[in-house]
Amino acid sequence: MSIELAIPDPCLVVLIGAAGSGKSTFAARHFAPGEILSSDAFRARVGHGETDQAASRRAFGVLHLALERRLTAGRTAVVDATNVQGHARLALIRRARAAGVQAVAIVLDLPLAECLAADRARVDRHVPEAVVERQWSALQTTLDGPPLTGEGFAVVHRLTSRAAVDSVVVGRAGVGWPTLSPAAPADRRSAPRRHRRTAEDVERP
Ligand code: GTP
Ligand code: MG
Repeated sequence: MSIELAIPDPCLVVLIGAAGSGKSTFAARHFAPGEILSSDAFRARVGHGETDQAASRRAFGVLHLALERRLTAGRTAVVDATNVQGHARLALIRRARAAGVQAVAIVLDLPLAECLAADRARVDRHVPEAVVERQWSALQTTLDGPPLTGEGFAVVHRLTSRAAVDSVVVGRAGVGWPTLSPAAPADRRSAPRRHRRTAEDVERP
């Protein structure tokens, strides 16, 4: 049986999940290459490669520029980054609001053990275990809090197993979607708590 994830078109799709949860694999399976804005790919463009963490700030700067251009041109954009921190999601939602398009969250909420195993099985690169664990915990904290729709997402799709991820079919629709909730109350309610920036905040937002 398949799970249909309905998304408006155009829209902003925000993938959310720890390293190894399968965001890039999911994006490549369901979206065209030109629709996908990957933080790793932008690190490679502005730095020494996909894992060049020192290039993160510049990479996200360029990613946001590209996102703004795509959304204002009425094109769907998929942001492939961990997005487990509220401030990262809020910055993306603001771009969608400015362009007048809906934002959709697709959460890859897989068990920590599966994220770690998938990362270990990769041949190209590895993310330190402690970083994966922190990203996973940050996601759990988010999911334990108020609904993500309170941040301004029109729709939130949450996938909790590899089998569910594998059975997804993405369906696109152009009409019949609720408008974004008013910016001020939603933003205030979901304003990310002030927190000390850590290495992995900067490295893998
Ligand atoms: P980061 O880029 O480090 O944040 O990770 P990611 O979330 O993009 O994960 P990625 O798509 O690179 O997937 C990590 C590994 O998990 C892949 O190399 C695959 O081996 C495995 N994997 C990802 N998605 C699936 C899936 O749907 N099914 C199966 N069987 N394996 C998957
Ligand atoms: Mg990836």
